[in-house]
Amino acid sequence: MNVSLLDAPPVAPSPIGVREAVDADWVECGRICYEAFARLADRHGFPHDFPTVEAASLPIRWMINHPGFYGIVAEQDGRVLGSLFMDERGAIDAIGPISVDPAAQNAGVGRLLTSTAIERWRASGKPGVRLVQIAYHNRSLGLYTKLGMDAKESFAAMYGEPIRARLPGYDVRPGTPDDEAACNALCLRVHGHTRAGEVHEAVASGDLRVVERLGRITGYTTKINYFAHSVAETNDDLAALIAAAEELATPGYLVPLTNGELLRWSLDHGMRVFFVVNLMALGMYQEPEGAYMPSVGY
Ligand SMILES: CC(C)(COP(=O)(O)OP(=O)(O)OC[C@H]1O[C@@H](n2cnc3c(N)ncnc32)[C@H](O)[C@@H]1OP(=O)(O)O)[C@@H](O)C(=O)NCCC(=O)NCCS
Repeated sequence: MNVSLLDAPPVAPSPIGVREAVDADWVECGRICYEAFARLADRHGFPHDFPTVEAASLPIRWMINHPGFYGIVAEQDGRVLGSLFMDERGAIDAIGPISVDPAAQNAGVGRLLTSTAIERWRASGKPGVRLVQIAYHNRSLGLYTKLGMDAKESFAAMYGEPIRARLPGYDVRPGTPDDEAACNALCLRVHGHTRAGEVHEAVASGDLRVVERLGRITGYTTKINYFAHSVAETNDDLAALIAAAEELATPGYLVPLTNGELLRWSLDHGMRVFFVVNLMALGMYQEPEGAYMPSVGY
């Protein structure tokens, strides 16, 4: 009797598993991250968040090798299906980016990755976990809401040519190690928690900028862009920090939609809206008591 391969019963795929990301994953995770975000943007007629595969891959490699981040990879039969990164540098954990191979989307991989991250956050005992979600992505909004996260605020990502101006009375200068305590105290006052790890790294990389009025620090930024955060006493302090930025890149700095004053100031200075994103939180969240711009994490 002839037995054809076509007669053999189909081999069921193995279950999808998760594991910690390692350096060897960065190329495939970077490709998937680029394609997942690019396809989504194309479908909605938006510009790409990551302009090239390299722009998505290099931050992923950096996060995999940074001791303050934790990466989770989903795979099946040795094939990477998607990844998620957690920023664990601060009192609040941040989730993102999360990306699933377009060929494997809408089949539970994103849920597996996100619920694994939430379980890790719960086990850590930290007070809160947050993420920033692209507002036009209905699926991620549905997924994160089902997993218990609540939308807290929406933001316009603003981009354009650097303003390169000084606001009289608002002195912007590079931050030093001596400024860290004042920056952390300001963040604590506005948000109820510090982001000391990021402030420390921004001093080391030369990115920290502080604004002073009458010799007192009234605001800081770890850089005016999508990946960094800013905290200040007033909108004018934030405006001084934005105006002093030497470079501005897309997707841009995040202005709360409820902060019409800073949004109008940005528009009046030639900025344009890239897209709108939502901050979602689980656990501790304090309404900010001051002016602020979040990073893509929170
Ligand atoms: C967002 C993303 C990570 C989700 O991963 P995924 O594997 O496609 O999603 P899953 O199949 O695990 O979960 C989708 C959930 O959303 C639900 N959903 C899908 N479309 C929805 C809609 N229009 N409204 C509400 N819920 C919706 C599904 O029913 C499912 O819920 P369930 O788990 O209770 O059944 C993935 O789609 C992706 O990579 N997108 C592009 C990049 C991106 O936007 N990343 C997130 C940035 S914050």
